[in-house]
Amino acid sequence: MIAANLEIRGADLYFAGRRTADLAARYGTPLYVMDEATVRRNCRRYRDAMRAAFGENALPLYASKACCFKELYRIVGSEGLGADVVSSGEIYTAREAGFDLAKTYFHSNGKTDDDIRFALECGVGHFVADNAEELTALSQIAAEQGKTQAVLLRVTPGIDPHTYEAVNTGRVDSKFGAPIETGAAMALTKLALSLPGIALTGFHCHVGSQLFDSDVLIRSADVMLRFIADVKAVCGYEASELDLGGGYGVRYVESDPVLDLEENIRLVAQRFHAVCADLGIAEPAVRLEPGRSIVADAGLTLYRVQSVKRIEGYKNYVAVDGGMGDNPRYALYRSLYTVVAADRADEPCDFVCDLAGRCCESGDLLRRDAALPAGIGRGDLIAVLTTGAYNYSMSSNYNRLPRPPVVLLREDGSEFIAVKGETFADLIRNDG
Ligand SMILES: Cc1ncc(COP(=O)(O)O)c(C=O)c1O
Repeated sequence: MIAANLEIRGADLYFAGRRTADLAARYGTPLYVMDEATVRRNCRRYRDAMRAAFGENALPLYASKACCFKELYRIVGSEGLGADVVSSGEIYTAREAGFDLAKTYFHSNGKTDDDIRFALECGVGHFVADNAEELTALSQIAAEQGKTQAVLLRVTPGIDPHTYEAVNTGRVDSKFGAPIETGAAMALTKLALSLPGIALTGFHCHVGSQLFDSDVLIRSADVMLRFIADVKAVCGYEASELDLGGGYGVRYVESDPVLDLEENIRLVAQRFHAVCADLGIAEPAVRLEPGRSIVADAGLTLYRVQSVKRIEGYKNYVAVDGGMGDNPRYALYRSLYTVVAADRADEPCDFVCDLAGRCCESGDLLRRDAALPAGIGRGDLIAVLTTGAYNYSMSSNYNRLPRPPVVLLREDGSEFIAVKGETFADLIRNDG
């Protein structure tokens, strides 16, 4: 199977040693299930690989946008990771979870004055400033609060990682950050160095997602280090931190490659050390911001089949009790997932169908051309694999569907409802 925490025993799919049919019976469907041991293992791999390759002051920052709830901050915090946060809501969640906010890096290209105030009051460790307006506002608000805020600047190295558009953020024409190529990044640096209340610590970039080879990160490290050397030459300022963003890929389907994370990080570090020495700059402390590769394979979603529709001569549909409300990624990006008939896992899969969600939207699919057993019918259990990233965090109440619960499978064999399922009362809570 595509991940080590999946197993088929007889007709049943097991996840993290648990029979998925039992989980569905206990908690209902749709159901997000998360495997704590896999989250922890993924955190440790980054932590250990980065320390080995870049030195003790390297730090992985979990990209909260991939999946955000209190218990997850407790888990990644206890593994020694920092966090990338993108909104006051994520900061608030981290704070309420007891996460060390000194280890958070606050992103976003649209921070409001209220966000800036809140983040400063909470003691967010670093801002990752995106633009001149933000820097100016941050400088003023920090001064009001009598603070000096550590800041990284988001710059775009002009690298096209050849992933699909929506997750491609390192190009010159990106909405994020300031391009190096046009001189905008240097201008933003000069501004940051001139403003009171701002302590510039370094630079950030993020070139894309679902990356499988080290080439993209090697090229971006290269461009970023050359920029750091240029800044040193022009401004006499030497960066002490370099954040290369997130983006390592995960296996959604069998044809996705297996990533050798440790080897990839080692190769990036090899170039990093060589380029720093070549340029005569002090090695900045390195940060990476993995999101998907921390949580994706730690999650799956369970659904019940509601109907099977055979449109003779055209196509087949299997409709389930969830869909784009709990997983909008097919609708947004045409993302591929592996689909398993979790209670018929020993049957041949020769029935090709589109796995459809229940929303009133033709584009509400979970998977096109899924292969399922021919006998599949109402009440059968479907598992969509590798849904730990960008599913719960991107979920919505479209069609007033309550969000499903998130059940965490603990390492000790217990289960913890990390997020309660929404009730109808939750749906109308804010209605006037
Ligand atoms: C700035 C930044 N950092 C980190 C990430 C996490 O990327 P991934 O989940 O692919 O590791 C993203 C994703 O969009 C991002 O925009």
